[in-house]
Amino acid sequence: DWKAENIAEREIEKIKKLVGETGEVILGLSGGVDSAVAAVLVHRAIGDRLHCIFVDNGLLRKGERELVEHAFRDHVGLDLTTVDARKRFVDGLAGVTDPERKRKIIGNEFVEVFRVEAKRFQDARFLGQGTLYPDVIESVAVHGGNTAVIKSHHNVGGLPDDLDMELVEPLRELFKDEVREVGRYLGLDERILMRQPFPGPGLAVRIAGEITQERLDLLAEADAICTAEIEAAGAHKTLWQYFAVLLPVKSVGVMGDARTYENACALRIVESVDGMTADWGYLDHQLLRRISNRIINEVKGINRVVLDISSKPPATIEWE
Ligand code: XMP
Repeated sequence: DWKAENIAEREIEKIKKLVGETGEVILGLSGGVDSAVAAVLVHRAIGDRLHCIFVDNGLLRKGERELVEHAFRDHVGLDLTTVDARKRFVDGLAGVTDPERKRKIIGNEFVEVFRVEAKRFQDARFLGQGTLYPDVIESVAVHGGNTAVIKSHHNVGGLPDDLDMELVEPLRELFKDEVREVGRYLGLDERILMRQPFPGPGLAVRIAGEITQERLDLLAEADAICTAEIEAAGAHKTLWQYFAVLLPVKSVGVMGDARTYENACALRIVESVDGMTADWGYLDHQLLRRISNRIINEVKGINRVVLDISSKPPATIEWE
């Protein structure tokens, strides 16, 4: 019978054996559950010989960097390096509107940033990754041939082989809900454990069209309000994802007795079991009203909020 405790202790033993008495591991934290649980397992096994790297690519949700630093540096006590690469990513994305090009640029930048950081840990021969069982299956299926690629998912962990490091992947036999159980057993922050999925390319694929620092800031603010209100109402428990998308359109509004001509954002709120198919989620009208009022009143630069009521398929969950 399946027990988080047994799995955790088994994986910790396996890591100890693989890495040995002196081996060092580098691991890229993404802020997501998988890399988090992988990191804590490796940390339990080898302590300070684990070096974690968190890349702030400027495409994160509001407060995300602080949450990661607090949870892992202060609470777990990991050796964590935050790399401030915001400018590099935003500059690299300037003028780019095609979603797949955005993903490609972000993926490449990530690899370069990670490569530079990893050089600082000369003695590290091992690379930790939060690869799950479904990832293992999926990559076999994709590499096996005929799967049409709709979106080329970039994850932290999409690192090139030429880093020439041995992989440490303690979640390779686990499913997502099992990973959460293991994380809970290890005492990981619930806010990290229960977070909704967030794509590797982050807010870049939630800004339809061109990305600028100003648009990133607008979206981060609107998204934080959407998330906070839904969570405060407890409505997130039945939802798979709930977030804001910044649209490439301006519209006319009126504020006091002045005319405005500002941005619009969409609320994307979906129910799903695995992200493969999804239904748009029903939210109470009062809750929707609060989200809309707060965004329009508090986020200067957004004067209209619309609700996305498309299911997947034929729409996808993300707009890009
Ligand atoms: P779509 O938009 O394809 O999304 O319906 C399905 C699930 O995948 C997530 N998603 C991504 N995750 N990198 C990721 O790590 C990506 O490029 C990416 N694109 C979409 C999306 O958030 C949803 O959970």
